Amino acid sequence: MAFVTHQGIRRLSSSAFRNAAIKHVTIIGGGLMGAGIAQVAATTGHSVVLVDTNEEILKKSTMGIEGSLKRVAKKKFADKQEAGAEFIATVMANVSTSTDAMSAAESTDLVLEAIVENLKIKQGLFGALDKVAPAHTIFASNTSSLPITDIASSTGRLDRFGGLHFFNPVPMMKLVEVIGTSATSQETFDSLLAFSKALGKTPVSCKDTPGFIVNRLLVPYMMEAIRLLERGHGSKEDIDIAMKLGAGYPMGPFELLDYVGLDTVKFIIDGWAEKDPDNPLMQPSEVLKKLVSEGKFGKKTGEGFYKYK
Ligand SMILES: NC(=O)c1ccc[n+]([C@@H]2O[C@H](COP(=O)([O-])OP(=O)(O)OC[C@H]3O[C@@H](n4cnc5c(N)ncnc54)[C@H](O)[C@@H]3O)[C@@H](O)[C@H]2O)c1
Repeated sequence: MAFVTHQGIRRLSSSAFRNAAIKHVTIIGGGLMGAGIAQVAATTGHSVVLVDTNEEILKKSTMGIEGSLKRVAKKKFADKQEAGAEFIATVMANVSTSTDAMSAAESTDLVLEAIVENLKIKQGLFGALDKVAPAHTIFASNTSSLPITDIASSTGRLDRFGGLHFFNPVPMMKLVEVIGTSATSQETFDSLLAFSKALGKTPVSCKDTPGFIVNRLLVPYMMEAIRLLERGHGSKEDIDIAMKLGAGYPMGPFELLDYVGLDTVKFIIDGWAEKDPDNPLMQPSEVLKKLVSEGKFGKKTGEGFYKYK
């Protein structure tokens, strides 16, 4: 078969699954992002299996989803309590949970991973899932900072692997970045775009480059704000006011840093600095390092650049 090119094989293997709509979704990781994605997918009529490492976490995830749906129902069915209750019951009936990722992946159209941001762990998970998931199943990662190509390399389905990058809080944020690697087939990419639209989101197409679109612009912006502070060229309060009133941003960069999590931003910038050490936009910061070493991660720990108590 030496005359069949690599591209030709990709076309053949993927065309067999052309236009298959994603109906059944397995979401691995029931944390902040996974639970949010599960809620949106279930609300839009998809059958969802939410997977995490233990029952306690899953109970917290489903209670979180239910609580969030209650808030939606309160707004949507203000004076129709029964309709609200029915809405919640219908959505929750679309969600089941499991602690066994392997059996959950045995019959699903899409495996969407939202576990810890660690390349080796993600590769290990997808490598194992690749052995049990049906041939038509698309794999996608919600990673914020790791190359999709590196995660996909642990599998034999490079043509059916892409990125779906959601934003926090998932039920509120309209954007999904859909990421294709150089090996992602057009059919897979189209399915991921169609799935994002079916969730009621607005997808944008991205290449597999550091930070995709949003974080590639946002992280260097936040880091520049920290560098401005480090040089003593402005106080954090003034920099925040300046960007809100001067640029019309809803939050200043330091408020945004605290909201995103300083540990997360440090993890991203350190990873980029390692890969692209000469890029001045991707340099690590001493102030950020100090705050993170003191456990000051932002809003979630009660203190970051600002105090929240
Ligand atoms: N938090 C954000 O704002 C945000 C935004 C976009 C993308 N992301 C990305 O989404 C992913 C998840 O982030 P998060 O904020 O939801 O994290 P999180 O810590 O809230 O949740 C991760 C969940 O994954 C579970 N988990 C870990 N290893 C697992 C495994 N092997 N099998 C099953 N479950 C496992 C953990 O128990 C936890 O419940 C990361 O890759 C992150 O980069 C996060």
